[in-house]
Amino acid sequence: MLFQPPLPRRYEDYSRGDLVERIQRRKAEIGDRLVILGHHYQEDDVIRHADFTGDSLKLSQIAADQKNADFVVFCGVHFMAESADILTGDDVKVILPDLSAGCSMADMADIDQLEEAWDVLTEHVDDTIIPITYVNSTAAVKAFCGRHRGACCTSGNAKLVLEWALTQGGKVLFLPDQHLGRNTAYDLGHALEEMVVYDPHKRDGGLDVERMRSATFYLWKGHCSVHQLFTPDDPDERRREDSDVSILVHPECSWEVVQKADHVGSTEHIIRAVHDAPAGSSWAIGTEIHLVNRLANEHPDKMVRSLSRVQCLCTTMYRIDPKHLLHTLDALAENRVVNQITVDPEMKRDAVTALDRMLAYTAPRRAPAPTAT
Ligand code: 13P
Ligand code: SF4
Repeated sequence: MLFQPPLPRRYEDYSRGDLVERIQRRKAEIGDRLVILGHHYQEDDVIRHADFTGDSLKLSQIAADQKNADFVVFCGVHFMAESADILTGDDVKVILPDLSAGCSMADMADIDQLEEAWDVLTEHVDDTIIPITYVNSTAAVKAFCGRHRGACCTSGNAKLVLEWALTQGGKVLFLPDQHLGRNTAYDLGHALEEMVVYDPHKRDGGLDVERMRSATFYLWKGHCSVHQLFTPDDPDERRREDSDVSILVHPECSWEVVQKADHVGSTEHIIRAVHDAPAGSSWAIGTEIHLVNRLANEHPDKMVRSLSRVQCLCTTMYRIDPKHLLHTLDALAENRVVNQITVDPEMKRDAVTALDRMLAYTAPRRAPAPTAT
């Protein structure tokens, strides 16, 4: 995680109203040169200032489409700002308002561990292995996949990307989220016995050679600390409270939770499902609490609540707040860039290869989802 120096004292003293007014004034001053992007898991006090909202990939693509912008302020987490830097032109500066807004899942797969895992697997397994990384990963991991005939995927297109990967080689190394990998491979008709968990903290990933050779999928031992909080008891409890409830979960939830859900889908899919649902319908949603609360507020004619009684909050997303946003805008208005996120050019090139493979294979089949703003 990067270090975010404390903000000057005055930012602590601004009221909520002061912050809104000052951010709006700075946005007007900087004009078209600035685009603010807000991930769906951001709090409402940040989202209200976003020019665009979306999931991680959609926001990076929006960043890449901005022809007039010099500055993209990414209200999300570090890997998203890296993806935006990878996909935007060299003259666009990508800014993360709080440098400590990392992602615990992305941190679970570091490039040295991945290089070691690759050596272990390729030493013992004769078939071609295709590495597939969820976009929730570092630029270095994306670049590795680009260099080794692999690709990126999102929660919205993981199925298509895995299908493609299996046509390229007999086996897939999927990282960093074991749950997205398992749920997707299972959805494609593969038995759980075809999947093994590769633990980067154990010698040889904790696998014996026979198991390594017989498996089709190597699922990296990583997870999302937010979606892992949903338990298989949650759907049972919500159904006991309301027999008409539809359980809708993100595929970063465990396989056991997904098996008990009525619907599973990406962040954009969840938004679309609630948007398209009839008035009076009832939903219990297994994803980050800010998005669930926003959907509840936007659809007062539907019953929308969290699948869990536990507060499933992404604490690193929550580090981005109006104070840090204003701090970056104040600097831009004074022609200073703070908190710029840059990816090394060579790493960028290989990471683009991984992202482009994903887009080439999945783009024609994607349908746009409604946005919150
Ligand atoms: P998406 O934004 O790709 O839906 O991923 C969910 C998530 O966990 C973001 O960090
Ligand atoms: Fe990372 Fe999970 Fe937070 Fe997304 S919700 S940024 S995957 S910890």
